Amino acid sequence: MVLKGKRALVTGAAGGIGRACAVALAQQGAAVFCADMKACDDTLAEFADSAPCGGQGLCDVADEASVADLMGRLHEWSPKLDVLVHCAGIIHEAPLLETATSDFDRVLAVNLRGTFLVGREAIRAMLPNGGGRVILTASDLAYTGRETFSPYVASKHGVLGLMRSWAREFAPHILVNALCPGPIDTDMLGAETMSAEWRERELDIPLRRFGQAGEVAEVAAFLAGPGARYITGQGLGVNGGSVMP
Ligand SMILES: NC(=O)c1ccc[n+]([C@@H]2O[C@H](COP(=O)([O-])OP(=O)(O)OC[C@H]3O[C@@H](n4cnc5c(N)ncnc54)[C@H](O)[C@@H]3O)[C@@H](O)[C@H]2O)c1
Repeated sequence: MVLKGKRALVTGAAGGIGRACAVALAQQGAAVFCADMKACDDTLAEFADSAPCGGQGLCDVADEASVADLMGRLHEWSPKLDVLVHCAGIIHEAPLLETATSDFDRVLAVNLRGTFLVGREAIRAMLPNGGGRVILTASDLAYTGRETFSPYVASKHGVLGLMRSWAREFAPHILVNALCPGPIDTDMLGAETMSAEWRERELDIPLRRFGQAGEVAEVAAFLAGPGARYITGQGLGVNGGSVMP
């Protein structure tokens, strides 16, 4: 229960990795507020026994007014914020020459602008406490690039840029890191968002399997806890060996 007494905001908490992160933080004793475009009832139900004081709010992370509204509701729930785990994100697969400008704009708006908006407001909420942990979500693709996913890859490169800059700007009080998952078995890798060919190629990594959302969440909980007090400005690969920097 290393996070007992801590207050955490998890975005993308109705999805695979965000939901697992919310549950992992709650299991370590944190009170968790879940945000997503979708209702997070299932997520809250999953940790109701370990942390009954969870909360939730609908939010479009790409929309400044929506994020401001979320932060207002978060403040009502708890004026103190210790941890942000920002998982909300989307992916888009298409060859460059078939990628519409609107597709690029949407991916960048959710993944990069959303990280900027939520991260900025979470840091604003943490500063009065004198410290906190910000855990963003990039991707192993931020290191490698990937044909037919260029807006997504660009957005995740951008997330690493925000992470490194905030880590410097808010040291030593707020530690800022990013999860860099490899292929994780969630809806994001499902048939609706990724071709069968790419799902197959995603398995061509040393550990030869998709990761589980809970395996990413364990790392998020570690980054939020006392064991990570000397870690900032890092992209942490949870990737089955897909990237070896
Ligand atoms: N699954 C993977 O293989 C993988 C690999 C690397 C990085 N990631 C990253 O991990 C994060 C979580 O992905 P996941 O695999 O859990 O996907 P997921 O699709 O299961 O969950 C994503 C969640 O984000 C929410 N969301 C989408 N747009 C939103 C918006 N505008 N505002 C608020 N919420 C929004 C969705 O409703 C969903 O609940 C994403 O940032 C993704 O890019 C995933």
